[in-house]
Amino acid sequence: MNRAARRLIITGNWKMHTDLVEGATLVAEVIERTESLALSADLVLCPPYTHLTVAATQLSGRSISLGAQNMHDAPEGAYTGEVSARMLLTSGCRYVILGHSERRSYFGETNESVNGKVKSSISAGLTPILCVGETLEEREAGQTEQVVGEQVREGLSGTDPKTAHGLVLAYEPVWAIGTGRMATPDQADQVHGHLRQVIAEMFGDDFADGIRIQYGGSVKPENAGALMARPHIDGALVGGASLDASSFEAIVRAGLGINGG
Ligand code: PGA
Repeated sequence: MNRAARRLIITGNWKMHTDLVEGATLVAEVIERTESLALSADLVLCPPYTHLTVAATQLSGRSISLGAQNMHDAPEGAYTGEVSARMLLTSGCRYVILGHSERRSYFGETNESVNGKVKSSISAGLTPILCVGETLEEREAGQTEQVVGEQVREGLSGTDPKTAHGLVLAYEPVWAIGTGRMATPDQADQVHGHLRQVIAEMFGDDFADGIRIQYGGSVKPENAGALMARPHIDGALVGGASLDASSFEAIVRAGLGINGG
């Protein structure tokens, strides 16, 4: 299967931005600008938890999907401030971003804790978007493939990919997130190719051929087309630029190779 046979998937990761009213306005603008494009690519919005049920109502019956930015691995319990997979699912989410580098670096998440979340998300019926990526020091020390390979192997350990509801990977070099400094399309594609190889070793060639790997880290309308034209780059995980409906639209158009708007 080549890149053209894998459907693009573009996710907006809003992080901790927008209040409820701003969020609802942004969802409405994104629907207006991108709903017709969602026939050709999978589009996913990941607003803060507090916005999910309102966004779910807005997206109900439409082709744009809803996702969350994190979850706890336990099904329920005395974990003040946490949210479970089932809570997300019943709030209208189909996807959940797991192991984002901000979770790893600011909140102490490890490959092991991410693995627990991946397993719980799959058994609840959510599609995980598993994020991996190396720091600048690791890249400069020539450890990129080793680091991201380990994140995937450990993150997916003990999972059965066939039950994973279309599991998605996201390669996000830590040094490119929110910095304006992005990996070149060649650099990114090389890592994506390596990740596909790791997946092939774990789960076989057919599964590796079909899995979608997003690139994330300073994706903008200006660089999105070149990135998503590469053979192993199947979409984008967009932070800052997803907070503006017109730039999100432009990124989707660039990924699909459609000009104008
Ligand atoms: P950015 O964030 O597009 O603002 O760099 C991407 C991400 O962290 O998912």
